[in-house]
Amino acid sequence: MAEEPLLPGRPYWLKIGARLVSAQVLDLKYKVNVNTLEHLATTTLELNEIAVATVSLDQTVAFEAYDTNPDLGGFILIDRISNATVGAGMIRFALRRAHNIHWQALDVSKDSRSAQKGQKPAVLWFTGLSGAGKSTIANIVEKRLHAEGRHTYLLDGDNVRHGLNRDLGFTDADRVENIRRVAEVARLMADAGLIVLVSFISPFRAERDMARRMMGEGEFFEVFVDTPLAVAEQRDVKGLYKKARAGELKNFTGIDSPYEAPEAPEIHLDGAGGPEAAAEAILEKLKADGVIGR
Ligand code: ADX
Repeated sequence: MAEEPLLPGRPYWLKIGARLVSAQVLDLKYKVNVNTLEHLATTTLELNEIAVATVSLDQTVAFEAYDTNPDLGGFILIDRISNATVGAGMIRFALRRAHNIHWQALDVSKDSRSAQKGQKPAVLWFTGLSGAGKSTIANIVEKRLHAEGRHTYLLDGDNVRHGLNRDLGFTDADRVENIRRVAEVARLMADAGLIVLVSFISPFRAERDMARRMMGEGEFFEVFVDTPLAVAEQRDVKGLYKKARAGELKNFTGIDSPYEAPEAPEIHLDGAGGPEAAAEAILEKLKADGVIGR
C-alpha cells in the first residue's frame, strides 16, 4: 500500500485488534499474479502486490484465522518512521515452530562474562558513505582499546560480505538483510561481553534503529562518519565511484542508491577531518559514558 516496497527483515509495526507489536516479514513465499492467480517468486513486495509470507512478531498476540474471524485475523503494517499504513494482511495459521522453540536460560550471563573481562559491553555502530572513513577510524579505535587491554571485535562490511553475507548484493532488500544479520551478530558479541565495532554503510534509518533496539540500555553508540559525497568521491580509494559514475556499478550508495543520514547519532564526526582526531573523540565519549575507565 506504499510507494516504497516492503522489504523482508525490516521492522514494521503490526496492528491487530487493539494490539501494536513489532513485526518482520521473514520470508516472502510467493506473490500472486492477481489476473492469473499464478505464483511468482519474489524478494520484495511493490505497491498493490499480494503475497503469501511468514511474519514474525516480538510478542505473542491473540488471533484467529481470517477465514473464521476477520476481526481477529486481519492486521495492518505501519512504517516505524513515517507512521504510514504500508500494508494489510490476513492470517492463515501460526507456524508450529512459534510454540516449539523456547529460550534456553543459561547460568553464565552477559554480566558475568563482561565482569570477567573487566569491562562494559558496547556496540559502536559506524555509518556513512563508502569511502567516508568508517573502517579507518574504527580500526584506530580498536587498536587503542586493544592496547589498553579491552576485549574487542571489529565487524567490517567488506569482510563480513566475504563470509556470512557472501550471498547478499546491494539491492535495498539485500542491504536490509545484511544489516539484520550483522546486528544479530553484534548482539551476540555484546552478550559475550565484548566492545563491538560495526563498520557498515548501513544506509537505512529503519535498520540502524532496529540494531539500537536490540542492544541493552546505554550500550549502543551510533557513530555518524559525516563525509560529504564530493569528498568520498574524490578519495575513491577502491575506484568504485568512478565505476558507478560510468554506469558499470549499479545501486551505488550516494549515486543511485539512497543514504539516510542519522538524525540523532551519539557521536557525530566530521569525516573530512583527520581519522586520529575522530578516534580520539570516540574514546572520550566512551570514557564520559563510563564504558571504559578514565
Ligand atoms: S551496506 O549498505 O549493506 O551496509 P556494506 O557496508 O556491507 O554496505 O558494504 C559496502 C562496501 O561494499 C563498500 O565499502 C564498497 O567497498 C563495496 N560496494 C560494492 N558495491 C557497492 C554498492 N553498489 N554500493 C555500496 N558499496 C558497494
